[in-house]
Amino acid sequence: MPSPEPVFDTETHVSLQLDDVGRLRHLLTLKGLEKSLLIDILDDAVRYLGPPGAMPVRSRALAGRTVANLFFEPSTRTRASFDLAGKRLGADVLNLDVNTSSRRKGESILDTIQTIEAMRVDIMVVRDASAGVPLYIARHVSEHVSILNAGEADVSHPTQGLLDLLTIRQHKGGFENLIVAIVGDVAHSRVARSAAQGLHTLGVGELRLVSPPAMAPDADEMPFATIVDNLDEGLCDADVVMALRIQRERIGNLDCIPDPDEYFADFGVSLARMKRAKPDAIVMHPGPMNRGVEIEAAVADGPASVITEQVTNGVAVRMAVLARVSKSLQSR
Ligand code: CP
Repeated sequence: MPSPEPVFDTETHVSLQLDDVGRLRHLLTLKGLEKSLLIDILDDAVRYLGPPGAMPVRSRALAGRTVANLFFEPSTRTRASFDLAGKRLGADVLNLDVNTSSRRKGESILDTIQTIEAMRVDIMVVRDASAGVPLYIARHVSEHVSILNAGEADVSHPTQGLLDLLTIRQHKGGFENLIVAIVGDVAHSRVARSAAQGLHTLGVGELRLVSPPAMAPDADEMPFATIVDNLDEGLCDADVVMALRIQRERIGNLDCIPDPDEYFADFGVSLARMKRAKPDAIVMHPGPMNRGVEIEAAVADGPASVITEQVTNGVAVRMAVLARVSKSLQSR
């Protein structure tokens, strides 16, 4: 008889993320984190990026530490970049293959976590399809373990949000005077939520969430943003355009998934539609992309695209976060 999975709640506790002297202990969400902390992480990430073209920066900040990557949902970028980030900081890195793990035999997530913790893992990087899992784990691990959220249902993807903030800052210098348009399936997107939370904290000039009505968030969820249901209106004079994939895996009723050609005609970020944005607008996408659906290949591969820079920044941001929570661990 498999162990029953607990019911997860999605209540966030900012205080749980910080230790008793205000340092980052867990990273579960960007919501509620101070502007100064976000900026410090971005500044750390810049140091881990190093000069363009140089060999990757390495340090011993995590020497003696063990990081476990526990991805209970597929990933290419996040998992690979946490793996590289841990190794470049000198940590031992365990990548649990969830497809062959004992969770397939009915082991509960808590038993899995306690098993990994017993191997003296210091930092667990967790991706899961259920909302509330990172918070639930953070509440149950010992005080010597940090939890990093690597993607939680449609709720939160904080390191993606940080790498998006870093990419925008690199290209635009700041946030206050920017118009940022997040385009596509916002309702099911943890990327959109974390980016929006971070942009709001850093004082973005204007944030537009541009979606067909069926993919728009609730009007009261992000009151600081404007919900727009017309792409030309949403892109008008935008400085930053972030295209989102349709999150098929989170849309219960497959009849609700639009026809790809119709979707591209109405909400695809194309060269023609990008003429509405500012001439120096950048185009972002968290990946994986569906070319010809939410983004035209000529845009994804064109001069406005910063998509591969986002990936490069992802490693640096994850190094910054790992090093920061490790400092909190040292005092315990
Ligand atoms: N952006 C992102 O989370 O990509 P992966 O699913 O490949 O990790």
